[in-house]
Amino acid sequence: MCKSDCVILAAGNSTRMNSHISKQFMEIGSKPILYYSLSKVINNKFIDNIYLVLEEKYIEYCKEYIIDKFFKGIDMEIVIGGRTRQESVYNALKLVKGDYVLIHDSARPFLSDECIINAVKYANIYDASSCYIRPFDTIKFKIDESIETLPREDVFIIQTPQCFKTELLLLAYDYVNSNNLVITDESSALDSINKSTYFYPGDRENIKITTIEDLYIGEGILKNIIRRECNEDI
Ligand code: CTP
Ligand code: MG
Repeated sequence: MCKSDCVILAAGNSTRMNSHISKQFMEIGSKPILYYSLSKVINNKFIDNIYLVLEEKYIEYCKEYIIDKFFKGIDMEIVIGGRTRQESVYNALKLVKGDYVLIHDSARPFLSDECIINAVKYANIYDASSCYIRPFDTIKFKIDESIETLPREDVFIIQTPQCFKTELLLLAYDYVNSNNLVITDESSALDSINKSTYFYPGDRENIKITTIEDLYIGEGILKNIIRRECNEDI
């Protein structure tokens, strides 16, 4: 299996968190949220070069309080983010050297090793992969003035990581950008050029930290992960 380069997105400004500091630098379990995803990809043998996308104003802060503190000596390329997630991904994508690239939101600190390995494995087979989970809630949508219910078994909640053959994702992004399309994940970029993505089941611990409530949920998930790891060691 070919290794994959990895883009960690950490250039968002967390408007929905309403905090004075961007959420990726806030703490869960006394460590910054960004620490967890970085640590996972650094320690995964299927991940090669790492590109960390940051807002320019946070570069020095991140070097001092995360990279030098937890990952001293680990090689990673810092990329300046854009105004949108889409722009941030593209800024990094243009620099990626490897044949495969895995994209992950730093706002999802609890991605598992299995999820990373599956992303790379399925991208090697199908050129594009993404994890998903199923909704438990009833999902309605509005068409004109009426409200309809979606068949829940046909609804997917899309997560990251997502992994792609680099040249394919670049082609899709070039198409999206030149047609002024707006996307919120990479599988949608592939949709726009009629290429399919292989979707595999992710897990519910891989939440996206978005609002303040998610910090409490994150603390609970982290405790559970630590408890599980302790049991595995016995
Ligand atoms: N992201 C990024 N560059 C941007 C916007 C988002 O790198 N210009 C990253 C975020 O840091 C995050 C991931 O993309 O890890 C998913 O975005 P989201 O959860 O929406 O984070 P924010 O955009 O920061 O939050 P909000 O939408 O509430 O402002
Ligand atoms: Mg956002």
